[in-house]
Amino acid sequence: FSLKSYNTFGIEASAQSFIEVTNEQELAKVLKENQNIFVLGGGSNMLLTQNINQLVVHVNLKGIEIVQEDADFVWVKGNAGENWHEFVQWCITKDFGGIENLSLIPGNVGTTPIQNIGAYGVEIKDTMFSCEAMEIATQKMRIFTNAECEFAYRESIFKNELKGQFIITSVIYKLTKKNHNLNTSYGAIDAELVKMNVEKPTIKTISEAVIAIRSSKLPNPKDLGNSGSFFKNPIISKAQYDKAVERFPEMPHYKVSDNEVKVPAGWLIEQAGFKGKRFGDAGIHKNQALVLVNYGGATGKEIYDLSKLIQKTVLEQFGVAIEAEVNII
Ligand code: EPU
Repeated sequence: FSLKSYNTFGIEASAQSFIEVTNEQELAKVLKENQNIFVLGGGSNMLLTQNINQLVVHVNLKGIEIVQEDADFVWVKGNAGENWHEFVQWCITKDFGGIENLSLIPGNVGTTPIQNIGAYGVEIKDTMFSCEAMEIATQKMRIFTNAECEFAYRESIFKNELKGQFIITSVIYKLTKKNHNLNTSYGAIDAELVKMNVEKPTIKTISEAVIAIRSSKLPNPKDLGNSGSFFKNPIISKAQYDKAVERFPEMPHYKVSDNEVKVPAGWLIEQAGFKGKRFGDAGIHKNQALVLVNYGGATGKEIYDLSKLIQKTVLEQFGVAIEAEVNII
């Protein structure tokens, strides 16, 4: 069974067998009968470097519902297989605020807590109320509160202590019905709103601005295989930063704490000369060096080797180690 159309990198890899589940009962049955499984959601954050000699379980539970509301807030539940961007748009149509900055991020609702998706000053941890997941070994359902997810930058308990143990089946987001907390602090959004002649931003116009920015920089996986940012932005010590900045005074940076600084990996990769370069069918996107792309026939191994070359070169030139954000299989 080919997984090419189930991963946004568009990598050709095969699964020993494949099953799609559309409700919890089916999922429980499949897990009970098969312990050796590989869980596949939106396929937007993984790089397949080999065939999967396991049963691939494609989690595709659909449905969106309002589970609770009061005068100010609404709790919206999305099942894991809902496309994330369509979920965001559904909320914007209803004027439910809090996730508009996360427009156009590829992937499904069920994956959003795993890597605490984030963009333009907002992360999923800011609105995720709880999520429900099935334990693979026992098929028991468990609810995780926001705190129990142990969110950090592109991290959660599901990538760490509980890796490979749970399948998220639905997520509840607590959104605003009025007094939206509009977040336009990220420079590019303000500039885009000015371009759009928007004087009083709304969640809808912010979403439109984010869509415009992302479309101009980030390749659409439908046209060019990719997995968004391939690397995380590294957090380095103030001492390490002070040393690097002597040699590279124009290096962009954001303060994380008194002794930590975050540096954009895209800048490091661009400075190292990789932006827009192509190695066979594997390459580095021309508008955003943080994104590796598949021009069509690249193997996962070729993309992986390119990522290693980039890591090695950035380490040699800047003394900074960059870590993959994408899950390498
Ligand atoms: N930069 C370069 N060259 C590049 C890319 C970036 O010099 O090729 C510089 C920019 O000039 C800017 C800085 O790096 O000074 C930051 O760039 P940008 O605003 O494009 O954001 P990013 O740090 O590269 C992060 C997220 C994105 C998210 C954007 C916007 C990570 C790993 N990536 O990218 O998330 O959309 O911020 O908030 O944190 C994703 O995770 O898949 C993703 C796309």
